[in-house]
Parts: sequence; structure tokens; C-alpha cells
Amino acid sequence: MVTKEPFGQCPAGTVYAYTLKNRNGMAVTVLTFGATVQKICLPVRGEMRDVCLGYDDPDSYYTQDGYLGATVGRICNRIGGAHFTLNGKEYRLPANENGNQLHGGPAALSHRLWSAEVQDNAVIFSCLSPDGDDGYPGNIQVWVRYALDENNGLEITYGAISDQDTYFGMTNHTYFNLNGSGSVLDNTLQLDADSYTPPDAQLIPTGEIVPVAGTPLDFRKSKPLGQDFEKAGLYDNNFVLNGDGMKKAARLESQDLILDMETTQRCVQVYCACYDTPKPGKAGAQYQGTCFVCLEAQPFPDRMNHPNFPKDILFAGTPYHQTTVYRFTPKP
Ligand code: BGC
Repeated sequence: MVTKEPFGQCPAGTVYAYTLKNRNGMAVTVLTFGATVQKICLPVRGEMRDVCLGYDDPDSYYTQDGYLGATVGRICNRIGGAHFTLNGKEYRLPANENGNQLHGGPAALSHRLWSAEVQDNAVIFSCLSPDGDDGYPGNIQVWVRYALDENNGLEITYGAISDQDTYFGMTNHTYFNLNGSGSVLDNTLQLDADSYTPPDAQLIPTGEIVPVAGTPLDFRKSKPLGQDFEKAGLYDNNFVLNGDGMKKAARLESQDLILDMETTQRCVQVYCACYDTPKPGKAGAQYQGTCFVCLEAQPFPDRMNHPNFPKDILFAGTPYHQTTVYRFTPKP
């Protein structure tokens, strides 16, 4: 079942909230602003728990710089020097971090109002990004479909078609907290990733692909996020997933809830940092400390600037298609 209600106003107009519900009492709210996941509520040990960070009003989404819950693109993660060359032509992109482009630039799709349509138990958001938008070539029609199944799986499907060759690659930027609040460092994480791409000081990949073995980034066997957190400094790393096609990517687990992630994308960014200053969030929450972990399915970051990374050019007229599923299993 899907219900719709107004969420408030943003400069581009009214923002609507769509809530997907299943028969287990799970409810996921998604917004037309940024095609954003605002709420993921499910019953755990007899009580409803909201397991993601977010805000109660459009203004906070409009002004935020953390991309909470947003659909991020045209291209998620960083593009070094905010430029790339495609078919012999150099494209200069608007930079929004240290001369690099982060998450699609200063006016990216995460901060726009999308159209929405309900189809059965799914909501499909769409938008048209014109040629030159955020510096990228091609008029591109983009859609994101959210569907909730009866096994507490939230399936996010991305589609796009461009009229010129271009680079493209979106992610969802939900900040998970399986405990509902407080630190996530007691959660265990397991990743189906034997290697990662080391970043430079500005978090741009150096171009190497390095085994995780013997580093704090070794999550091949499940371990608490807190175990090597200090050694790692924090987690903000791109892991290269093993295998092809739809595959297991991650398992995040608290004392009473499991989150399994599968994706067709090549990589996953694990982002688990510490907010030193409290940030006001939903329902009076103050987000502080290590209160979240993002698991962002993505292509190789900055792939256009590293000859050894898969290019994944989106060719004119060829449909783009990627799927990520987040499945929640409460423990008895
Ligand atoms: C990036 C972080 C960044 C955060 C918020 C994550 O996807 O990996 O470096 O701080 O998004 O923009």
C-alpha cells in the first residue's frame, strides 16, 4: 500500500511524502525532494523503530550538506579536479569541494524536486536533466523506483537514458542506525569485498586497487564497526565488491536487527564518521558522535580519470539500469 501526503514547501514547490507499507508493519517514507528516503520504520522486538537519520521539514533537506537519504547524482562520490574527457572532449564540471566535484555538484539531483507516480506497491520518481546540467553532456531522463516487499526488502532501481554518450552513476545516501539512536560502533559489518581503492588526502582515489587483507578495512569476516575504527581514523572508503551482476554486498547487524544489502553495482562506499557537534534531526533527535553508517552502492569513484578503472560509459540511447536491495530482518 502507498499513501501520499504533503511534506511542506521548497523553493521549487510543494514536496510530497509517499509512504510504502507492507503487511509486517514496515513503512518507508520517500520524498519528491531529492527522491529521498526520509524514514524506514519497522517493528523490532514489539516496538516501532526508525532506522535511518533524516529531517522533518523540506528546508532542512534543502540546506543540508550531508545528503541524508538522498538520491545522489548525476554522479555520486568525487571527480578529481572536477573534469573528465569523453570522446576527445574535455568537460569542466562545477566544483563544490577542494576544486573537485562531490556528489554531482552544487545544484545536483539530490537537491531538486522530482515527479512521482505510484505503481502498485512502488513509487517511481523521475526527472529530466538537460544537456550541460551540472557540467555533464546529454539530455538525460532519469528515474528511481522504490518498492517494498513482504520480506522487508526495500528495492531501489535506477534507470536513465541519454541522447549523448555520457558518464552517469547514482547512489542512495541513507544514513542507517539499526539501533534507532546512539552509536553504531557496536554493530557488526561484513562486506563481500576483497579489495578497496585507497584515497588521497582529498578522498580522490589514487588509482590503486589494493587487497583489504591486513588492513582495518578487512570486513571479509564480520566484525564490529568499532573494532578498528580508531585505527582507520573513520570509515569513508570505497570497497570493490566481489563478483558480477546482482550480488551480496554487505551485512550490517545489531543485537536485534540484520540489514542485508545486495546490489548490481561494482562498489560500495562505507561512510561511518563522528559528528563532533550535534545536528538537529527528526522528531527532536540530536545527531552526534558515531550515530550512522552509510552503505552506498556505486560505480568506481572518479573512474573517468583512472585508466585501470572500468569506464562504464553510458552510451547514447542505451538504457542505464542498476538495482540495490536493503533487506531488514528483525531477530526473534
Ligand atoms: C562521502 C563522504 C562525504 C559524505 C557527505 C559520502 O558519500 O564518502 O566523504 O562526507 O558523503 O557528503
